[in-house]
Amino acid sequence: MVHPKAPPSGRYDVDKIRADFPILSMEVHGKPLVFLDNAASTQKPRAVIDAVERYYRAENANIHRGVYYLSEVATKKYEDARQTVQQFLNAASTREIIFTSGTTDSINLVAAAYGRKFIKEGDEIIISTMEHHSNIVPWQMLCQETGAKLKVVPIDDNGDIIFEAYEALFSPRTRLVAMVYISNSLGTVNPVKAVIDTAHQHGVPVLLDAAQAVAHQPVDVQALDCDFLAFSGHKIFGPTGVGVLYGREKILETMNPYRGGGDMIRSVTFEKTTYNELPHRFEAGTPNMAGVIGLAEALKYVNSIGLGRISAYEEEVLAYGTEALRSIKELRLIGTAKRKAGAISFVIDGLHPHDIGTWVDRAGVAIRAGHHCTQPVMDRYHIPSTSRASIALYNKKEDFDVLVESLKNIIEVFR
Ligand code: ALA
Repeated sequence: MVHPKAPPSGRYDVDKIRADFPILSMEVHGKPLVFLDNAASTQKPRAVIDAVERYYRAENANIHRGVYYLSEVATKKYEDARQTVQQFLNAASTREIIFTSGTTDSINLVAAAYGRKFIKEGDEIIISTMEHHSNIVPWQMLCQETGAKLKVVPIDDNGDIIFEAYEALFSPRTRLVAMVYISNSLGTVNPVKAVIDTAHQHGVPVLLDAAQAVAHQPVDVQALDCDFLAFSGHKIFGPTGVGVLYGREKILETMNPYRGGGDMIRSVTFEKTTYNELPHRFEAGTPNMAGVIGLAEALKYVNSIGLGRISAYEEEVLAYGTEALRSIKELRLIGTAKRKAGAISFVIDGLHPHDIGTWVDRAGVAIRAGHHCTQPVMDRYHIPSTSRASIALYNKKEDFDVLVESLKNIIEVFR
């Protein structure tokens, strides 16, 4: 397997990449599809579709249980997938890779299995203003249950965290920092290494929500020195309903299981149950085998292109898209952070984002309109919602030309 940090070289052939994604050649309302809603969910390359199909056609059986051929094949593919994820994140061991149903599930796992054990009344959890609801609500629920308190890092008008304010939030009662790596609504790339180093100086572990990060840049959990990291398969060209929680082995070992059931136990009697070893202790019940195998295929696909090259290419597309949108004088960008990746949010005075989304759809362009599950970000900017164009490795600069032309049309018609 090619490691993301040793990417293949050569020209970035976006047309060749696009040809790997069957859906990208379709038409919508008689227009070529321009897919700019990748922060919500990405499209799937043929390799992933084929791996999932092959699994159900020729490899399907329950894992970790059978002594027969198919169960052994499925078990091997599932555990090989764990190794692919371990290498993808540069985790120290496969014991640190837990398969979940997605980022939300991964964060809820930490809130329940770590939070309920180690976070008590009067303790504090630091999050930021730009968190997705999935990195707010589980902590709020934990706070309600335990009497702990949430502390929120403010952001400036550009959408950067105010670092001095972050540093000032630490107290002897701080027990965890949970922060997004790349914001889904603002596109801000947070200075997560500095965030982690600061937290560690206070002896506080850090969870990173990397849902928007993994498809745009290399992520190395050992270099970051993070304690937990969550991501979803469907945002990195893999299937829906599958995701990953990375956890530092030393910390995972101290945590109680999150859910009880099959496969997470070593032995069960009515008097006493003992738990399985890592990582199986946190994977109760029959897992999403097809999803996990599809996810591994997606990561191999990304590695075959190289995240370093993807990141450099996307930076150009994003810069082009930003300038193209800025050329519309009625349009205001929401999120102009120092470092951005993936998403561009904007508002146009007098036009509702839903109307904009519906209008550009007629031109074949898929963007998202709404609060993007980040209502506190909308409150920070005193707006109810934005329109958001978000890119992936297969987008072209021309995609923004189509979007901008359609936006100019709607402005002309409605204003
Ligand atoms: N979190 C996803 C988004 O940003 C759904 O659109």
